[in-house]
Amino acid sequence: MKKILITGGAGYIGSHVLRLLSQNKNYDLTVIDSLEKGFKQAVDIISSESQNTIKFIQMDLRNINDFDRLDNQKFDATLHFAAFILVGDSVEKPIKYFENNVSGSINLLKYLNESNSKNLVFSSTSALYSKRATPPFTEESLVEPENPYAESKYTTEKIINWMNESHGFRSIILRYFNPCGCSLDGKIGYSLIPSLHLFPNVVRGALGQQPFTVTCGKVNTADGTTIRDYFNVLDLAAAHKIALEALLEGKAGGTYNVGTGKGHSVKEIIDIVKKITGVEFKIEPGMQRPGELPEVYCDPSRFKNEFNWEPKYTLEQAVESLVKWFKKHPNGYNY
Ligand SMILES: NC(=O)c1ccc[n+]([C@@H]2O[C@H](COP(=O)([O-])OP(=O)(O)OC[C@H]3O[C@@H](n4cnc5c(N)ncnc54)[C@H](O)[C@@H]3O)[C@@H](O)[C@H]2O)c1
Repeated sequence: MKKILITGGAGYIGSHVLRLLSQNKNYDLTVIDSLEKGFKQAVDIISSESQNTIKFIQMDLRNINDFDRLDNQKFDATLHFAAFILVGDSVEKPIKYFENNVSGSINLLKYLNESNSKNLVFSSTSALYSKRATPPFTEESLVEPENPYAESKYTTEKIINWMNESHGFRSIILRYFNPCGCSLDGKIGYSLIPSLHLFPNVVRGALGQQPFTVTCGKVNTADGTTIRDYFNVLDLAAAHKIALEALLEGKAGGTYNVGTGKGHSVKEIIDIVKKITGVEFKIEPGMQRPGELPEVYCDPSRFKNEFNWEPKYTLEQAVESLVKWFKKHPNGYNY
């Protein structure tokens, strides 16, 4: 039995990864989450359908004393999702982001070091790449965080790399591009409401559950809307499973982009939502965010080649899953 710790496992991405890992009977899973942004309901649903016992501990990584509740257990590996994630909010409240994402991670790393739990998968972000970099972004592209959120993630990456150097940690840092969608059966979903990510925002708009807030200024791309590397959250969950297995098998770590390597425009996504929902709607042209790159996509070949990972799910499936989820759960998990 392998003991796995999951921080932020009640959140959007963490819960999809938790569900996938809960299918492996050899994993003894512990989720820690403050529930400030996550939903205990997600963990309960996953627990109820899993043959594994999933321990849930409500605690805050910022409170060092909360770690006493882990009883000095040694974990074979940790997946660290817990963080605040909103770029705009981080610009307004930088301390909140550094305190949570950096200090919280330092507390976690102290615990993991003291309990000799040195295998770590860390959720990082494509947001740390420079606006001066040219797509496709490789792991060697210029890193130049332009907001406190991205800076907090990059700072944590650097701290983790020093823990590798100084304390024998082995880490896999995954820089996600733009995950989207939810579980195909509509049971595990997306609950940030009002939603701020493009896919749930447009789907909820089409279902009449919230006003459209897609603002997309005219940019220099074929259809005039921004292009991003959207990929299905289920493929991201599979990437975590593979990364975890690699660490448990004693393979070396590293830093990897996770995306498809292909960009899709906002207009293309809107067209998919229109086709699937049958709802015709117009998105008002908005302002382009200053300095925003018209086109971002990654070169995912390092992760694909080393781990034999290939995205399997489509963006259509991402939209269909969100339609299913929001039809059943217009208020997310708060039903
Ligand atoms: N969603 C994306 O598009 C995206 C893209 C790139 C990277 N990421 C990274 O993925 C990770 C997960 O993101 P998400 O979209 O699932 O966000 P989320 O907000 O849905 O989940 C984060 C979870 O962490 C918990 N949490 C936050 N601070 C905590 C603390 N101090 N102690 C305990 N729990 C805490 C929240 O309650 C929440 O359940 C984050 O680290 C984020 O930086 C997300």
